[in-house]
Amino acid sequence: MALNEEQILITGGSGYIGSHTIIALIEAGFKNIVSIDNYSNSTEESYKRIEKITGVSCTHVKCDTSDAASVAQLFRQFPGISGAIHFAAHKSVPESVAHPEEYYRNNVNSLINVLKYGSENGLRKLIFSSSCSVYGNIQSLPVNENTPFEKAESPYAFTKVIGENLLQDFVRSRTDFNAVSLRYFNPVGAHYSGMIGELPNQRPNNLVPVITQTAIGKIKEFSVFGNDYPTRDGTCIRDYIHVSDIAEAHVAALKLLYNMGTAKYYDVFNLGSGNGVTVLEAINAFIKVSGTTPKYNIAPRRQGDVIAIYSDSSKAQSGLGWTAKRSLDEMMSTAWKWELYCRENGI
Ligand code: WQD
Repeated sequence: MALNEEQILITGGSGYIGSHTIIALIEAGFKNIVSIDNYSNSTEESYKRIEKITGVSCTHVKCDTSDAASVAQLFRQFPGISGAIHFAAHKSVPESVAHPEEYYRNNVNSLINVLKYGSENGLRKLIFSSSCSVYGNIQSLPVNENTPFEKAESPYAFTKVIGENLLQDFVRSRTDFNAVSLRYFNPVGAHYSGMIGELPNQRPNNLVPVITQTAIGKIKEFSVFGNDYPTRDGTCIRDYIHVSDIAEAHVAALKLLYNMGTAKYYDVFNLGSGNGVTVLEAINAFIKVSGTTPKYNIAPRRQGDVIAIYSDSSKAQSGLGWTAKRSLDEMMSTAWKWELYCRENGI
């Protein structure tokens, strides 16, 4: 079977990174995509936006990946699935601090269900949506894939540590399963059309949608969580990376797994730009490209935040033939373009 005819499952496919990855897969010629989501942090509208952008209507099913019976039924309904990209997870650092039991339940059970019921029905390849938060507070930056983890600073981060170990052990227990964990740094921005982007169902927790929603007036004023960190301007440092760069890395990873056939393989790759940017620098980049001045105050530190992290993503360059292409300005301008599109279309 040609690679682009393989049936690929996207869990969390109506979400921010999932929907952008579906667009990248369609643009790369993949014709047989099945997307599932429980719409806990997205809506079905994402699929209409994907079709508006690509002209392709994506098969999609409502399914809670943390529910074993639902996942078992899903794989019986689509017995041809050979590969999966597993995005479905809760992803807010502060929310995981407030509700750790829900984060462990949802994030760990979801991966267990996809691996168990998928592999019983022909699944042989999986890409796991991991996160730079697995590293914790690292002193020597940038981090590469061999940097030893420090303590996970949030329950969210630890669910990703568990997920990576679970996946590695699963591959070791099989003879013909291959997988990668992709450690995203901070995905931000929107598709260049501005017709799809980050749209959480509740008030956003992540910095960039908070900035754009403040600039457009949905949020009156936002807080910068701490300006007393040991960094160049006192605010936390992150490695922001355009969501479309992240999406394109998933296409590259899928091709890598299919090109190796049934070889037993597991590896991890950092997906970052390699640039450390402070919160205030990110805000100022947004102000520069948008011409707006979103109101913010300086508030106490947020529990669960790491002080600074940014990546050495050279392994993804050599192993996946991938590198981040889009600039911080493009991240901010596309995020703003999407926010304006939402206002114009009553979203
Ligand atoms: C970034 C910085 C905040 C909001 C995220 C996702 C996680 C993972 C990694 C993908 C921090 C500060 C934020 C606000 C602020 N993504 N901030 N005011 O926590 O680094 O992790 O990216 O897998 O899922 O949660 O991102 O955008 O929440 O915070 O000052 O209103 O912005 O304190 O320093 P984070 P974030």
